[in-house]
Amino acid sequence: MNNLSIFIIFCVLASLSHAIELDFCVGDPSLPRGPQGYACKDPDKVTTDDFVFTGFRGEKTPNNVFGNNVTSVFSDKFPAFNGLGISMARLDFGVGGVIPIHSHRTSEVLILVKGSIIAGFIDTNNTAYYKILEVGDVMVFPQAMLHFQINVGKTPATAFVSLNGANPAIQLTPTTLFAGNLPADIAQKITLLSHKEVIRMKRIFGTA
Ligand SMILES: *[C@@H]1O[C@H](CO)[C@@H](O)[C@H](O)[C@H]1NC(C)=O
Ligand SMILES: *[C@@H]1O[C@H](CO)[C@@H](O)[C@H](O)[C@H]1NC(C)=O
Repeated sequence: MNNLSIFIIFCVLASLSHAIELDFCVGDPSLPRGPQGYACKDPDKVTTDDFVFTGFRGEKTPNNVFGNNVTSVFSDKFPAFNGLGISMARLDFGVGGVIPIHSHRTSEVLILVKGSIIAGFIDTNNTAYYKILEVGDVMVFPQAMLHFQINVGKTPATAFVSLNGANPAIQLTPTTLFAGNLPADIAQKITLLSHKEVIRMKRIFGTA
């Protein structure tokens, strides 16, 4: 953990303000999740390790079609987040890698710890807010706005993000349109793309 990562975690914890009647409710993902999250693990069985996540260690090799490797840490992967309204992710970019345009149910704050990326979002008035970030820079993406990140450096890049929901979800526009069960003719109509282009996109995701 470098200083920047510690800083972002400090910021996240400092933002917690809502009062709850238990000190914590480490989730039990073996039980069904309701709208408010998971049922609490028996507090007598909770240990320090329940509050420590080690899955951000090491190299994350970007080997998908977008040239990224996203390690999402929502309450299902790190049940200590349950009920706290926070979550995190580590974003690794290969050279030229991107996180394609997407949104969450929540806001997101990003800190760049390696490399150089363009990060941005687009508001409901179609105004794009984007900038090349340097190591140490922080950018916020307001709740539900479509946003993206592009590695524009000559080396791999790494960023960490935090989101103000334990289960913020991620909805990637290209995969919602072309990787799921939406028929090609509907995708074509709702995007104004050509049939040829829709088929090309669906082939990338193995759905045509
Ligand atoms: C992310 O990196 C890990 C560790 O190198 C690897 O096991 C995993 O397959 C990678 N995932 C993607 C989507 O690239
Ligand atoms: C929306 O964008 C237009 C220019 O594209 C601008 O004139 C207008 O003031 C904007 N509206 C808001 C609410 O930001």
